Amino acid sequence: MAHDLAIVLAAGKGTRMRSSRPKVVHKIAGRSMLGHVLTAVNSAQSVDRDLRCAVVVSAGEVGTAVGAEARRFLETAETFVQAEQRGTGDAVLAARDALRANPETVFVLFGDTPLITGQILTEMRSALDDGADVAVLAFDAENPTGYGRVVTDESGAVTGIVEEKDATPDQRAIHLCNSGVMAFRIGELAALFDRITANNVQGEYYLTDAIALARAVGLDVQVVTCDERAVLGVNDRQQLAVAERLYQDRARRRAMVEGATLIAPETVWFSADTQLGTDVLVEPNVIFGPGVQVADTATIRANSYLEGASVGPGCIIGPFARLRPGADLGADVRIGNFVEVKNVTMADGSKANHLSYLGDGTVGRGANVGAGTIFCNYDGFNKHRTEVGDGAFIGSNSALVAPVRIGTGAFVGSGSVISKDVADDALAIARAPQEVREDWARRFRERGERLKKAAKAKG
Ligand code: UD1
Ligand code: CA
Repeated sequence: MAHDLAIVLAAGKGTRMRSSRPKVVHKIAGRSMLGHVLTAVNSAQSVDRDLRCAVVVSAGEVGTAVGAEARRFLETAETFVQAEQRGTGDAVLAARDALRANPETVFVLFGDTPLITGQILTEMRSALDDGADVAVLAFDAENPTGYGRVVTDESGAVTGIVEEKDATPDQRAIHLCNSGVMAFRIGELAALFDRITANNVQGEYYLTDAIALARAVGLDVQVVTCDERAVLGVNDRQQLAVAERLYQDRARRRAMVEGATLIAPETVWFSADTQLGTDVLVEPNVIFGPGVQVADTATIRANSYLEGASVGPGCIIGPFARLRPGADLGADVRIGNFVEVKNVTMADGSKANHLSYLGDGTVGRGANVGAGTIFCNYDGFNKHRTEVGDGAFIGSNSALVAPVRIGTGAFVGSGSVISKDVADDALAIARAPQEVREDWARRFRERGERLKKAAKAKG
């Protein structure tokens, strides 16, 4: 069966990041840049052809780690090692074996261009369907510094791409920039790349030289343009922050288009995998870490932080709530201010409204966990579970020392330290009994005043 091939260039350290980790594993909205690119590739699958993916990585452990990251997003991604980073043109040839399998269309993408979308790749494929041999994705840059410039002739046809370091002042004034993304539909693509030389200021093999070479042999090269915001290249941490901001804008728009209300969208932070249902209300200053799902009609109140959590329909979370991984909330659960929930399943209608830590356990249907309750889940070595039965009531300021089970419908008196199981419908109180001394306070005060007066009189 015919197939397409996407070659994603992801080798090298990305020196300007000043990082001990490879550039492409740095994250945007909780997902690596490489993960974003592969997600776009995956969504550009065509109906009639298989889309294979080759990821070009550095040698050694760094490359192995990048390859593993690639397969987290695209199981079928194959990695190819580029032994030495001699430029983007050389990097494409590292995937020579994948080219030998005669793909119909070859896409080349960069791992440091994380905002690319599947739709843009589909548009590039259409340019080839319409007859072009090569399509290059370009954008009109507000500030073209650092990008390769797309050079055209009087008729507007592309003649080549010149890197900034090699450009003449006239060429530097060009604002049409190369995004790095290209698509080819020519046989023997490797032969074209083999003709690229490192005859330039940086002494590198430039992928971009493929354009002039293609033109020289009479191939039809078309420019596809896109919004600058879809192809920002990330070379340093400032550009990483710009990409994050652009991605967040996109995620906020998407959430609203899909039916969530964001009162102050610019203050809400999403992860790439956040899922919100319809009629979800998100108040200001909410942060969604990775792995959060919120069902229809739930409300996330101001200043809450959620990660790895599933929030059921109609829940009200916050303000100032923290849901950590494994917080699994049924319908109409209430989590109030300064409540932290980690690895706890809470059944429909249960509540923990104030100042609590619930870690490792279950809370039954309609159970009420009072203010200041702590699930004491950790003994310094192991984690243990706390089970609170359906309809149970935990009085305020109680410590439930796990492993422990509070039965269905049971009561725990306020201020208890519960270290043994409590039977269904029982009351457990574990606190010092109250003692009352009638009139004691008045007598204490009077004695104090008497002594003070006597001392004064003495001088
Ligand atoms: C590149 C383009 C430039 C374009 C810009 C868009 C070239 C020569 N220049 O410049 O025209 O405007 O991107 O963002 O193509 N890589 C390898 N092996 C290598 C070198 C790079 O795999 O030997 C990978 C990097 O991991 C990176 C990508 O290729 O993800 C781009 O390389 P980078 O060095 O960032 O190129 P730019 O200078 O940004
Ligand atoms: Ca780059």
